[in-house]
Amino acid sequence: MSLKSFAVLALGLSALGTTLAAQVTLQPTGRTLTLGNVSYFVPPTPVSTLPNAPALVKPATGELIPFSVIPTSKTTFDEEALQEIIAIWSVKDDVWSEAFLTGIYITFNGTRGVPRTSLGSAQKALGIDFVLRSRSFPSGVGLTKQLPSGPYFLEPATGNIFEAFRLYNDENQSFLYGTIPDGHGGFQVLPARISGAATETIGVPSRLYFTPTPEKPLAGFRLAVKDIYDVKGLRTGCGNRAFWQLYPPKNRTAPAIQRLLDGGMVLVGKAKTSQFANGETATDDWVDLHAPYNPRGDGYQDGSSSSTGPGTAEAAYPWLDFAVGSDTGGSMRGPAGANGVYGNRPSNGAVSLDDVMPLSPELDTAGIFSRDAKLWTLAGHWWYQNFTSYSKFPTKILFPIDFFGGSFVQNPPAAGSADAMFNTFISKLETFLNTTRTEVVFSDLWNTTKPANVSAPTLQTLLTTPYADLISLDQIALVADPFIADYGAANGGRMPFIDPAPLARWSYGRALPEGRKEEALANKTIFMDWFAREVIRGDIPDTCADGILLYPQSSGRTNYRNRYISPPSAPLGFSDGRIAVHAETPDMVVPIGEAPFNSTITGQTEFLPVTLSFVTAKGCDLMLFNLFSALQDAGILNTVVTGSRMFTS
Ligand SMILES: *[C@@H]1O[C@H](CO)[C@@H](O)[C@H](O)[C@H]1NC(C)=O
Ligand SMILES: *[C@@H]1O[C@H](CO)[C@@H](O)[C@H](O)[C@H]1NC(C)=O
Ligand SMILES: *[C@@H]1O[C@H](CO)[C@@H](O)[C@H](O)[C@H]1NC(C)=O
Ligand SMILES: *[C@@H]1O[C@H](CO)[C@@H](O)[C@H](O)[C@H]1NC(C)=O
Ligand SMILES: *[C@@H]1O[C@H](CO)[C@@H](O)[C@H](O)[C@H]1NC(C)=O
Ligand SMILES: *[C@@H]1O[C@H](CO)[C@@H](O)[C@H](O)[C@H]1NC(C)=O
Ligand SMILES: *[C@@H]1O[C@H](CO)[C@@H](O)[C@H](O)[C@H]1NC(C)=O
Ligand SMILES: *[C@@H]1O[C@H](CO)[C@@H](O)[C@H](O)[C@H]1NC(C)=O
Ligand SMILES: *[C@@H]1O[C@H](CO)[C@@H](O)[C@H](O)[C@H]1NC(C)=O
Ligand SMILES: *[C@@H]1O[C@H](CO)[C@@H](O)[C@H](O)[C@H]1NC(C)=O
Repeated sequence: MSLKSFAVLALGLSALGTTLAAQVTLQPTGRTLTLGNVSYFVPPTPVSTLPNAPALVKPATGELIPFSVIPTSKTTFDEEALQEIIAIWSVKDDVWSEAFLTGIYITFNGTRGVPRTSLGSAQKALGIDFVLRSRSFPSGVGLTKQLPSGPYFLEPATGNIFEAFRLYNDENQSFLYGTIPDGHGGFQVLPARISGAATETIGVPSRLYFTPTPEKPLAGFRLAVKDIYDVKGLRTGCGNRAFWQLYPPKNRTAPAIQRLLDGGMVLVGKAKTSQFANGETATDDWVDLHAPYNPRGDGYQDGSSSSTGPGTAEAAYPWLDFAVGSDTGGSMRGPAGANGVYGNRPSNGAVSLDDVMPLSPELDTAGIFSRDAKLWTLAGHWWYQNFTSYSKFPTKILFPIDFFGGSFVQNPPAAGSADAMFNTFISKLETFLNTTRTEVVFSDLWNTTKPANVSAPTLQTLLTTPYADLISLDQIALVADPFIADYGAANGGRMPFIDPAPLARWSYGRALPEGRKEEALANKTIFMDWFAREVIRGDIPDTCADGILLYPQSSGRTNYRNRYISPPSAPLGFSDGRIAVHAETPDMVVPIGEAPFNSTITGQTEFLPVTLSFVTAKGCDLMLFNLFSALQDAGILNTVVTGSRMFTS
């Protein structure tokens, strides 16, 4: 290259550079790195700054230095105090590790005395390169903003300090994507992926950053949210790719979710929903999205729907605490049963459903999954703040033998069977409540106590179609028609792709005669009133309700996801799971055991969840939560763990 052409080239580049600089801004989106074998995300925006960092930290080189902010109330922070912190933090937090002891910044949170540090030889032994003390120490140094305890990254050249998010793989494909706060009260999609991973990546902040208080009792608990709830800054996809693309990110977080965030929960991701929250089976119906994996048993069982993402995530990931789903006709209870976690359908109206995609406003509810009855209770009390908390319990336990199965009652169930687990659990419940179950035949109860002016001889006659009628008519009007119109307007009149299940339901709804919604609501009301009058009464002093009705939610039966079933159709019929839907009562699912089966996938004996549903009077949700907490205290209910097996033995 001649000197002349080089000069021309240089001139050309610099001219280009000027134009680019005017148009292009460099927008950092954060960094991913590994520390030890663990992947971390470091957000682009610092949370504080250490002035004069190059003079204070050694080594002052390298891109980022992991360090820990450590509080102490001891006037002498010595090796013993440090070891105590290490022991507690190692158990309490999955983000912090000893790798963050490259440096420490000690803050004094005690009340009196002149604090000092005395680590002696421990500093070298633990590989601590620098020890800084906050201004509360004589000769301490200040950060531009005080930080909660925990792991951080320091950029030595600038003194900027960043939070640490640990990254996890979404092995069970429960999530659409991970989320992080956007710094403006909303959220953004996590711009990070674990190197080499073939799944979505979820980032979680250190638990040490958060301390629960009465105002924020849920501080630091990690939350996944079903992708039918609007979250500011994120799109709502409702399980449909065209829907996700068509509408812009939301500018408001649904009040139900905001309430949980206000309580201190940390949103870590949007979890998958079956399409428009309709019932879908794993292989046949999940066309637009791939169905999440139920981690229980052989890992190839259907995770039920529609809150499949939240339910499977709760059962699979120890780093997740809570997951919010919704229940219109079983969308919380089915996944709670299939995936073996605590999950509830609350009383209708328990929380606002503004900014949530509707299936049927008359029937929609917002529920939450947990692996621990007491944490579930904590979340329930915070969320369903409009209900009164009762800590005494009713003694009428209704045991409908038509739901449990006649043979279960006549013959003692085989040891190790789901029926035996129901029996044992209910016996313990009887002892706990000092009562005995009342056997009833639910269908006979209707026959003998139904209103005189209602002709329907059976509940099937009354309630075969109202659920299907309401969800299809409501969703056509509120979701399908506006979506199809908006999509057509933006795409030359084309139809969007719709999965087979919602399409079948909408087709059913479009063929219904005039007046069907009113008739469906009238039948629903007849049932609701009858249930509140003849089955379980509410407004009872001390116990809220006069009874509890039990039915089996899942019995350890297989439902392989590699199985072709029949095409989807409108969800007709009355069954135990429809009681709460029409009576507007809570229906809360608790895991009680796991039953063995011979897996056609693994060729081994595996185990699947056995869970029980508790139904009580409308508005008595908190009484049931309190009962489950008390049952966990009594060792009758237990926390479940994640993965193939539910219980550690
Ligand atoms: C990293 O992983 C390798 C292989 O799994 C293991 O041998 C090593 O001990 C790990 N290192 C750390 C720091 O955990
Ligand atoms: C001070 O820090 C110690 C050590 O982390 C902690 O146990 C204690 O609860 C803190 N006290 C206050 C008042 O924050
Ligand atoms: C928020 O979004 C809605 C719906 O797209 C729109 O009508 C409204 O004007 C937006 N509000 C603000 C403050 O941007
Ligand atoms: C589901 O997640 C668990 C972790 O809880 C993992 O061990 C399992 O392999 C995952 N299942 C599938 C099918 O990826
Ligand atoms: C409590 O009830 C009131 C009145 O019914 C309602 O407006 C409000 O949204 C409810 N609160 C919550 C958190 O749902
Ligand atoms: C249990 O109930 C029986 C009969 O209702 C009553 O006599 C007894 O005192 C109760 N026991 C307890 C521990 O409450
Ligand atoms: C209802 O009860 C009556 C009287 O006991 C009985 O004759 C009838 O067969 C019952 N009907 C149904 C549908 O069970
Ligand atoms: C049945 O009678 C009750 C009480 O008299 C009344 O409120 C209700 O509307 C009637 N229902 C029907 C379906 O006629
Ligand atoms: C309502 O119930 C009546 C029986 O009382 C039944 O004949 C009718 O088909 C039901 N209507 C709907 C929409 O379910
Ligand atoms: C599994 O198969 C073996 C051999 O056929 C049989 O003995 C056993 O009862 C089966 N176990 C279950 C839980 O079905």
